[in-house]
Amino acid sequence: MTKHNDSVPSPEDDPKVNPPGEVPNELPPETALIDKHGIIERNATLLLVLSFLVVTIGGIVEIAPLFWLENTIEEVEGVRPYSPLELAGRDIYIREGCYVCHSQMIRPMRDEVERYGHYSLAAESMYDHPHQWGSKRTGPDLARVGGRYSDEWHVDHFTDPQSVVPESVMPKYDYLARTPIEPTLIAETMATHAFVGVPYTDEMIEAARADFRVQVDPFGDFDGLLERYPGAQVRNFDGQPELTEMDALIAYLQMLGTTVDFSTFVADASR
Ligand code: HEC
Repeated sequence: MTKHNDSVPSPEDDPKVNPPGEVPNELPPETALIDKHGIIERNATLLLVLSFLVVTIGGIVEIAPLFWLENTIEEVEGVRPYSPLELAGRDIYIREGCYVCHSQMIRPMRDEVERYGHYSLAAESMYDHPHQWGSKRTGPDLARVGGRYSDEWHVDHFTDPQSVVPESVMPKYDYLARTPIEPTLIAETMATHAFVGVPYTDEMIEAARADFRVQVDPFGDFDGLLERYPGAQVRNFDGQPELTEMDALIAYLQMLGTTVDFSTFVADASR
């Protein structure tokens, strides 16, 4: 047997160890205050009342400031509502369940910012009803995919993803290019978005059908469109003469994350 280390008292000399015969497990005197907690633990009603008190205080601390803050979303220059064609593309994105595999929120962590670009701002999804942040990344985040690839790349990728990324597990969406799209319900869709707070004006809703068509017509009169939706990209997105769902979806993807100029953006908090 090894000799006892002198700095560790032997059980007989340790005041915290009960001598044989006394009640075991009694806490040492300096923990008397913790002992009082036993009163609460043994009284269910008191425990309930005190728990309720603690949760109430916590809740007030979290919720009350929201009533005094003017706005929880910092306004950012450049963020605008979707053009009619982009909005239709967004509806296709939702209909096809792209959010099942793709997120649209770059988190403020170094690996994400280096891969995808500036972290997402709350303002960038303020006109999204519902938002497309997503919770699953089988594919990459798409919050800043706008401008990263050419329209032709997107057409090839949707037609046959493995033709451009051989190891891709993304399914084909080739039928989008064969499905013509009409702005039949676009005015109603925009009116609904206006109802939940997107600042679509009556003028925008009235011009919706014309704006929808002119965005794929570089020879058309798209001045009004650009005035209503600054920075909207006008071109034949899918390269075919007909206006198809592929046009709408690519128009949407190509504007994602492009509205804020990050060379001049300064967060309110760091002003
Ligand atoms: C089954 C999961 C899955 C679904 C559903 C899916 N994707 Fe993907 N997507 C992927 C994967 C994996 C990749 C990465 C490989 C590649 O580029 O194909 C990808 C890549 C992409 C890219 C290229 C992103 C980049 O930065 O390289 C785009 C754009 C894209 N998807 C758009 C869409 C759209 C739009 C839809 C809905 C119509 C969709 N995806 C549906 C899995 C999916």
